[in-house]
Amino acid sequence: MTKALRLPPTRAGSRIMSIGSYRPSRVVDNVEIAARIESSDEWIRDRSGIIERRWAAADETVVDMALIASGKAVAAAGLSPEQISMVLVATVTHPYQTPSAAAELAARLGTNGAGALDVAAACAGFCYALSIADSLIRTGSSEYVLVVGVEKLTDFLNLDDRGSAFIFADGAGAVVVGPADHPGIGPVVWGSDGDQKDAITMTQSWAEYRTEPGEQFPALTMQGQQVFRWAIGEISKVCVQALEAAGVTIDDLVAFVPHQANMRITDAMVKQLKLPEHVVVARDIATTGNTSAASVPLALDRLVENGELPGGGLALLVGFGAGLAFAAQVVELP
Ligand code: UT7
Repeated sequence: MTKALRLPPTRAGSRIMSIGSYRPSRVVDNVEIAARIESSDEWIRDRSGIIERRWAAADETVVDMALIASGKAVAAAGLSPEQISMVLVATVTHPYQTPSAAAELAARLGTNGAGALDVAAACAGFCYALSIADSLIRTGSSEYVLVVGVEKLTDFLNLDDRGSAFIFADGAGAVVVGPADHPGIGPVVWGSDGDQKDAITMTQSWAEYRTEPGEQFPALTMQGQQVFRWAIGEISKVCVQALEAAGVTIDDLVAFVPHQANMRITDAMVKQLKLPEHVVVARDIATTGNTSAASVPLALDRLVENGELPGGGLALLVGFGAGLAFAAQVVELP
């Protein structure tokens, strides 16, 4: 008879222990962007809620930014880097097909050769990675997991593209997830709609670029209205499902931290969910722009940093974007 395999003891739950973030120093206002795309400060503020955003320096990499955010998160958790046994990096802008950003980050952070994996789920990436971390910890596969959302979208932007140049930006947010005696990360509700893969995509694949390079290095391109309609039509339902799955109601929340896609999408979801007044809503997009996988941890860090949230309160996180893909979960705040 085949010998039964042994599994490690399972755990009751996991929790976010700490958060760290990194915002590049260069502030880029709408006037600078509008000059290249026949737009205006007023239009960009009106249609997206963005007043300014941060852009990384030319020589600043995804891993450089992730390292700063991660160092802060690990220190705030009261851990040393060697205690991190898994590094998950949610990103779609690490400019190497391989190796992963996570492996470089794990080494530079000073982990003891931690497991390392990049998660490519675009704007939903951080919420995906957070749930993978929760599962690894609850199944006993890992003890402390570093989860990072990081993007240098400016490396893949066409600054002359009216539909995307003003919206995307750069930054990094990181959390340390560790064991807990009760669930501090609720069940994830996630999914995808690959039939809408062209709604946010690249102008060319690497293979196409190699055989017949276009004028422009492969850049992001977005059917803004299509994505907007999908977000407004579907994502509030996903939020309700995440609340139900966690066995809580909207009144139990202290914060709502949606992916910072567009202020109008956030406003619409707040209405659709009938969010009570006491729930703090993340509106980090105004000064940070849309940083894809980095947006949820950056927005969360901003709220925690501002002292707007009681520790231990419940926050609803939701990420959505290219794929199209989405993921949502309720978490206990550190
Ligand atoms: O993070 C991943 C997920 N991404 C999202 O969730 C983004 C979702 N989409 C959006 O946020 C919005 O679609 C945008 C902010 C990207 C665009 O806003 P919109 O209200 O959907 O603009 P639109 O494309 O419907 O264009 C409205 C009008 C058009 O003019 P007419 O035809 O009404 O005369 C456009 O030509 O605005 C014009 N327009 C612009 N005007 C000034 C389009 N882009 C610009 C621009 N500046 N950059």
